[in-house]
Amino acid sequence: MQNLGNRMAVNLDLINPIEDLGKFLETSVVWRDYVEAWKSPDVLMSLLHRFAPAVKNRYQWPWRWILLRRLKNRSNLELTVLLSVYRRGFQLTPHSDDRYKLISLIHYLPELDSASKGNGGTSFYVPKSRTKRRHLRQFSPWSGGFRQYLPLWLSPILEAGLTRRYFESEQIDSNERNTFEKFFSKACDVGYARNRISGFVKNDWSFHEVDLTNFPSSEIRRAVLINVRVHPSRIVERISQFESRIVRMKKALTRGAESDKLI
Ligand SMILES: [Fe+2]
Repeated sequence: MQNLGNRMAVNLDLINPIEDLGKFLETSVVWRDYVEAWKSPDVLMSLLHRFAPAVKNRYQWPWRWILLRRLKNRSNLELTVLLSVYRRGFQLTPHSDDRYKLISLIHYLPELDSASKGNGGTSFYVPKSRTKRRHLRQFSPWSGGFRQYLPLWLSPILEAGLTRRYFESEQIDSNERNTFEKFFSKACDVGYARNRISGFVKNDWSFHEVDLTNFPSSEIRRAVLINVRVHPSRIVERISQFESRIVRMKKALTRGAESDKLI
C-alpha cells in the first residue's frame, strides 16, 4: 500500500494480495468476482478493439510502426485493477499519466448517501487550437536533465503533469497553472456518482484532474482504476536503469560535496 498524504493506492490484483485487503478479497465473493470479471481476457480484448483507432494514433510517427508491433503481442499487455482512496484536500493536478498506460477506466464508488454532490469526479482537458507538442515539454521530464537538450521526436509518447498537492495546507503554483491554461481548456467534468465509469486513451494530450478541495471531509473518495498497460521493452528498461544509476550517482556526488563544505 502506498501512502501519499491524502492519497492512497491499493493493488486489488488477486494474484498478489496485499495484507488485509488481500484477506478481504478472499472472503468477499462480490469483490473477488468483480476483480475477476475485469481481469477476464475478453475485457482486455474488447477494450483494445473498441479503442484501437485512438491507441494506434498515440505514438509519434517515427516510432509508431515499431511500438504498434509490441501491442500486437498479448504477452506485452496487462490489465490491472487498483483501488484509489483520496481524502478532502488532495489535488491530482492536470496530468496525462505514464507512457505505459494505454487505456484507463475510472469506476466511481461513492457512499449511498454521499454529500459530495458530484465533487470528486474527474475533469478532462483538451489542447487549444494553437497548442503544439513542443508546448508540453515544460510540463514533462524533457524540461530538465540531459533530455532538455534532445529533440522531442525522440520520445514516442510524453508523460507530463503539474505539481501535485497532497495536503490541504499546500499551495498550488499559480504560475504553472496559468501557463497550463494558456495551452489547454477544460472539456468536461465527470461527476462522482454511483454506477458511473469515465475513461480515456493515454496519449500526449490526455490531461485530466481530480480536485478534492470541496469534497466532504467526513467521506473518503473511492474509485477503482482499471488500466490496460504495455510492459516496457528490454531496451527501454536498460535505458531507465542506466538513467536511475546516473541520478543516484549525481545525488551521491552532491551529498559528498555538501558534506565537504561542512568540514
Ligand atoms: Fe491519472
